[in-house]
Amino acid sequence: MPMTPHGGALINRILTGAALAAAQEKARTLPKITVDAYTAFDIDGIAKGMFSPLTGFMNEEETRNALDKMYLRPGIPWTIPILLAVSQQEADRLETGSEIAIEDDRGTLAAILHLSEKFSVDKRELAEKVYRTTDEAHPGVARTFAIGPVFLAGELDVLQAREVEFQELNLTPAETRAAFEARGWKRIVAFQTRNPIHRAHEYLTKCALEICDGLLIHPLMGTTKSDDIPGDVRMACYKALLEKYYPADHTMLSIMPVNMRYAGPREAILHAIVRKNYGCTHFIVGRDHAGVGNYYGTYDAHYIFDEFDAKELGITPLFFDHTFFCKACGNMASIKTCPHGKDHHVFLSGTKVREMLSRGEAPPEEFTRHEVAEALIRWARNA
Ligand code: ADX
Repeated sequence: MPMTPHGGALINRILTGAALAAAQEKARTLPKITVDAYTAFDIDGIAKGMFSPLTGFMNEEETRNALDKMYLRPGIPWTIPILLAVSQQEADRLETGSEIAIEDDRGTLAAILHLSEKFSVDKRELAEKVYRTTDEAHPGVARTFAIGPVFLAGELDVLQAREVEFQELNLTPAETRAAFEARGWKRIVAFQTRNPIHRAHEYLTKCALEICDGLLIHPLMGTTKSDDIPGDVRMACYKALLEKYYPADHTMLSIMPVNMRYAGPREAILHAIVRKNYGCTHFIVGRDHAGVGNYYGTYDAHYIFDEFDAKELGITPLFFDHTFFCKACGNMASIKTCPHGKDHHVFLSGTKVREMLSRGEAPPEEFTRHEVAEALIRWARNA
């Protein structure tokens, strides 16, 4: 039995055939707004069903539910509002009940919005609830304060699916579902990452694979903050690792074109729901999942799952404590499985790793495989 999508049905808002031709013709005559890459990725998430059951941008009631109760509507968990923001001036020229053409950051007519509602939400409240902070140094908060102040709600008809780098690895939820079925996988664990896969990540994925049929390595490739490692560099790392260290018949690499929000716990829930839509049954949540800076406690992204009914969530989280290589154990371990003290553990901060890489120095093999280190050194030396 394939995994039931969130809300019951996998959404597909991409028009084809005659409906597409007619919509393209019509779109040219409609009032138009232009969106940035972030919003274009959100449109894509709605279009292909990553955000099922959303069929468009969220309205005020859904947004309030998500903020106040972490639900879209009863029975359907949802933690982060998916919003289309415009300026007051733009909002004033758009009529509720009308259709609006949306042009994306590449100048493509991407979608038609059936504008059902215009609304506003207090930005400080939005930031506080989603990101648990109003500090503008947080990238999600900075974006929240920069956009709007009006949000447009309504269903979308999508004229063109968004293509990205590594498009051949950009499987839609319908496609990953079909791939899992073709491979006969029933228990499929997804691994979210916005980083290269270091030994700690590798350990989590392999522990999880021990109790599942298949592993979906599912790097996030929507917008990320500028000091995150670029997608092409990460891809070189993933490919090198997969070739040598992962079993091809139990592992799949596919990208997830969804924006990174850095919302920690609330984003862990969204990440799990999106992977459920991709057809996965299990989802890895490690230390400080989707975190940035020191805004979240190390295991806040674990605790938040307690606030949901497991059936309503419909995907099983696999929680991992902080993992590392322990020299006394002679293997990877976590604070749960290792009896030795910190002195035996190989721990390197992100800053330290960057310094080493830019000097052309590979971090120890216990921290990162040399194939990954080589790809990162190439990048760091040219950056
Ligand atoms: S994230 O923003 O996608 O969460 P990252 O790519 O670093 O960042 O992490 C991917 C996943 O691995 C997350 O679930 C994260 O919690 C987990 N993780 C990363 N490093 C460790 C570690 N040393 N120990 C345990 N879990 C980790």
